[in-house]
Amino acid sequence: MLRKIRVYGDKVLRNRSEKIEKIDEEILTILDDMLETMDEVGGVGLAAPQIGINLNMFVIKIDGVVRKVINPEITELSKEMLEREEGCLSIPGIYKKVERPAVVKVKYTNENGESVQEELSELGARAFQHEYDHLEGTLYTDRLKPLAKKMVANKLKKLQRKNKEK
Ligand code: CO
Repeated sequence: MLRKIRVYGDKVLRNRSEKIEKIDEEILTILDDMLETMDEVGGVGLAAPQIGINLNMFVIKIDGVVRKVINPEITELSKEMLEREEGCLSIPGIYKKVERPAVVKVKYTNENGESVQEELSELGARAFQHEYDHLEGTLYTDRLKPLAKKMVANKLKKLQRKNKEK
């Protein structure tokens, strides 16, 4: 089932999400819905808060490989940093370069309840960090350098005004 994607200004995007204690039917359904919703709009990642659910899970799809990520942790960040353009389904119309660690080691539970440990680089590392941020109520625009932040400030204000009432 397609879910409504929450947009910048919606408070649910700013909450800290909670740990998932049990992977039950409801959680699996939400993950399926998130994947369907993300595919519908052609995204590479979608976190639960973006459909209004403050639970620690997200989906990412990199080079056709889908990961359903539950209770993620980032256990190591590389010193090497990379700057690449990012966008977010909750911040329509804005794309800006963000600097992030190039490689990350991560740990999470998958939809089968198995513990997974991986080292991610390139788009995988970026997407994982971007979605992980969502679970802490952080958006990529928070991480922009001062000048870039200034450049998007007006657009963000407009989104904020439009969406905070909903
Ligand atoms: Co996002």
